[in-house]
Amino acid sequence: MINTVAYENDQVIVLNQNLLPDKIVYESYTSVEEVAEAIRTLKVRGAPLIGVTAAFGLALGAARYSGRAEEFTEYYSAIRSQLASTRPTAVNLFWALQRMDRVYQNNAHRELAELKELLLNEARCMFEEDIQTNQLIGQHGAQLLQESSRVLTICNAGALATCGYGTALGVIRSAYQQEKIAKVWACETRPVLQGARLTVWELMQDQIPVALITDNMAGYIMKLGKVDAVIVGADRIAANGDTANKIGTYSLAVLAHHHGIPFYVAAPQSTIDYSIASGQDIPIEERDPEEVRSVRGVYLTVKEAEVFNPAFDVTDNRLITGIITEKGVVFPPYEKSLRERN
Ligand code: MRU
Repeated sequence: MINTVAYENDQVIVLNQNLLPDKIVYESYTSVEEVAEAIRTLKVRGAPLIGVTAAFGLALGAARYSGRAEEFTEYYSAIRSQLASTRPTAVNLFWALQRMDRVYQNNAHRELAELKELLLNEARCMFEEDIQTNQLIGQHGAQLLQESSRVLTICNAGALATCGYGTALGVIRSAYQQEKIAKVWACETRPVLQGARLTVWELMQDQIPVALITDNMAGYIMKLGKVDAVIVGADRIAANGDTANKIGTYSLAVLAHHHGIPFYVAAPQSTIDYSIASGQDIPIEERDPEEVRSVRGVYLTVKEAEVFNPAFDVTDNRLITGIITEKGVVFPPYEKSLRERN
């Protein structure tokens, strides 16, 4: 099993995913700044993992606080803002911080040492729950697939994007154990190449058959009849089922719809933002233009080229065949089916 994040001896330890698949390097952080920077620079990425890492970051900041008890509230809100400002789209970040807030608010009257312990316990609970949640997503999702399925995915919604097992790749893992997977098509996922660097590596570690394609090959492969289902993760699902996920997901959904191929979203309940009516209200992160101009430091274009670099897009609910969570699979109309699962 791949370990993506851990908390030991008042340090947050993360696998630096920017170095994969060439090097497996774990980094240890002793400050909230370092944890926030790791999230911002994609050393740690994927919605559920961002949430749990931020929770560990908050616990770390609390554990290392040596100031006056009366000033802890101000300090807590400063470190919380630091973590909350790292990435805007994945709602799991805010969900995890809100869980930490509740523990803080319910225990603010306690001794600081006890409060620090409770905050760390909450982060540890989220870590454990995430793995169990993904295994359930895997079990529910695998039931949707037939024997010898060829599944297409984008980005990395695997063990690397979570505390273990994965969401979209969790479904693929469970289905593979049931001998239902003939092949996984991994879209490379420009500009940051999470598909090429992470998904291919992760699936090969488990000997799950995977073939890498560039993003613009998906339509042709569907037309050739070589895709039985598309399964993707999510960064935020609105109350009506509209889903934000890695840039390129929307194009795949349109293509799948055109070719009559089922398109599934796999995500924990914590990715559903019931406070947002539709995808129009989901904030979409725009990242550094350098990510598009260059790949791993090598320029592909003119250095001054104008660039637009949205990290995510939104897939309309009508293009989604089913949403798989730990509670089961829901189908359209999502406003109703998601509300019933809340
Ligand atoms: O920019 P990233 O790598 O954090 O984007 C990740 C994705 O889009 C994943 O599909 C999503 O977070 C789900 S991870 C289980």
